[in-house]
Amino acid sequence: MSLESNKVYAAVLSAALLIMVITTVSESIFHEEEAKPAFTIEVASADTEGAVVEEGPSLAELLATADAGKGERQFAKCKACHTIGSGEGDRTGPNLHGVMGRGIGSKDGFNYSSALSGQEGAWTWEKMDEWLSSPKNTFPGTSMAFAGIRKEGQRADLMAYLNSMSDSPLELPAVEEAAEEPAGE
Ligand code: HEC
Repeated sequence: MSLESNKVYAAVLSAALLIMVITTVSESIFHEEEAKPAFTIEVASADTEGAVVEEGPSLAELLATADAGKGERQFAKCKACHTIGSGEGDRTGPNLHGVMGRGIGSKDGFNYSSALSGQEGAWTWEKMDEWLSSPKNTFPGTSMAFAGIRKEGQRADLMAYLNSMSDSPLELPAVEEAAEEPAGE
């Protein structure tokens, strides 16, 4: 008799337990399903933001705050081989007056290496930035014996100076809106 009722209790109890388990499990499934989409979106946007920040300032941003005065001091590294005044003569390297926007390897009367004389296109901001970071990687075989300037801020200053030494300076590239950080160095 008591054994019989024990069995009934046990059956009721395990049924109750089973219901509890099912409820808990299904609840957690529902919660996860509800939570998942929101969570995924959050992670995705955080990733995108992270990538933008990691890139650092763009060339356009660097140029927007570049200092031609500092660039003139950078130009001391170039003076052994280059003049930059209007009408000044070539040295080991060509006169650089108005070089920004000028055709690559195009100055009349200068004897360029085939690495430069065969190039088409002009000195854009991007191309000059690449060249100044490493001449020999930009145009392999160039006769310009100069290792390059590693700091992008210094290259931007120098380019601002080169551009100022011109009868028709290039316009600065437009800064894209993405940058919300306060301007400055
Ligand atoms: C050791 C000498 C030397 C130094 C230092 C040097 N250059 Fe040059 N540069 C040259 C020579 C030589 C060429 C021609 C390269 C060729 O024909 O391959 C040249 C070419 C160039 C050109 C391409 C000009 C054109 O008409 O297409 C630019 C721009 C330039 N140099 C900028 C600079 C700047 C800026 C510096 C300083 C950071 C510098 N160079 C330092 C020797 C030098």
